[in-house]
Amino acid sequence: MTTTTAPIDDPLAPLLAELLERKHCDFRGYARPSLERGVERARAALGVASVDELAALVCRDPAALTTMARALTTSVSELFRDPSYFRAWRDEVMPLLATYPSIRVWVAGCGAGEEAYSIAVILAEAGLLDRALVYATDIDEHALAVAASGAYPAERLPAFERNYRAAGGRARLSDHVRIDGATLHFDAHLRARVSCSEHSLSTDGAFAEVHAVSCRNVLIYFARELRDRALALFLDALCPRGVLGLGATESLALSEHGGRFHPFVAAERLYRRA
Ligand SMILES: C[S@@+](CC[C@H](N)C(=O)[O-])C[C@H]1O[C@@H](n2cnc3c(N)ncnc32)[C@H](O)[C@@H]1O
Repeated sequence: MTTTTAPIDDPLAPLLAELLERKHCDFRGYARPSLERGVERARAALGVASVDELAALVCRDPAALTTMARALTTSVSELFRDPSYFRAWRDEVMPLLATYPSIRVWVAGCGAGEEAYSIAVILAEAGLLDRALVYATDIDEHALAVAASGAYPAERLPAFERNYRAAGGRARLSDHVRIDGATLHFDAHLRARVSCSEHSLSTDGAFAEVHAVSCRNVLIYFARELRDRALALFLDALCPRGVLGLGATESLALSEHGGRFHPFVAAERLYRRA
């Protein structure tokens, strides 16, 4: 993971200041390459030739500012993305969660909710959903609206089913969804257990006490200081021996908080809080 931050005389600084002031989104601690890729996406989407033109446009046009914010936060995902990670949740994390009378899981940077519903399905199949709550948080209000609806294009079902089975699913994913025309809806009992809200790992404080955190493909966008901030929030939120799961290319290496977690399922980037 890269740790490069923006230089002081940064040409992106006016854009980042605008996003902070008007959208309360603090992108200053993001890794430089992901910021630059996001700015390029925004420039292309808005049809402007330079970063200066982009800065001028987002200053006068609120819709352009929203486009810019969305371009910096890609929320592309899948259900049971990286199936072996979710297989480890099924086989290793569920037996731990089963020891708690009520279960709270925080999916931080949940995008449009696919990761949260994957965990909700596994909780349901482990017989734990009725005493569980999955908090799904993100800074992208559009993605959160999709997550809260629990509705996805039905054409994605075959790919979701494949991932579900590769992740150790023994029934059928379609047992948990209803198809209505071109839309797939997660069942109401799953949706009721997934609670979606805005929360920024850059600017917000600690979250409710939880037994597990899954934060995948988010820290990769952050430079080191912001990654450490997020990990400090997870430490605050997790109960002793609680589980932390990261993305396939993320790790605690180089973090000042690395020593506060022990490997749990190392190959799947699952850790337990000390
Ligand atoms: C690539 S998506 C990952 C989605 C999901 N976790 C997964 O792995 O499939 C990255 C998500 O991180 C969110 N994100 C970026 N910066 C964030 C921040 N400061 N606080 C919370 N979420 C953030 C983005 O909005 C986006 O939805």
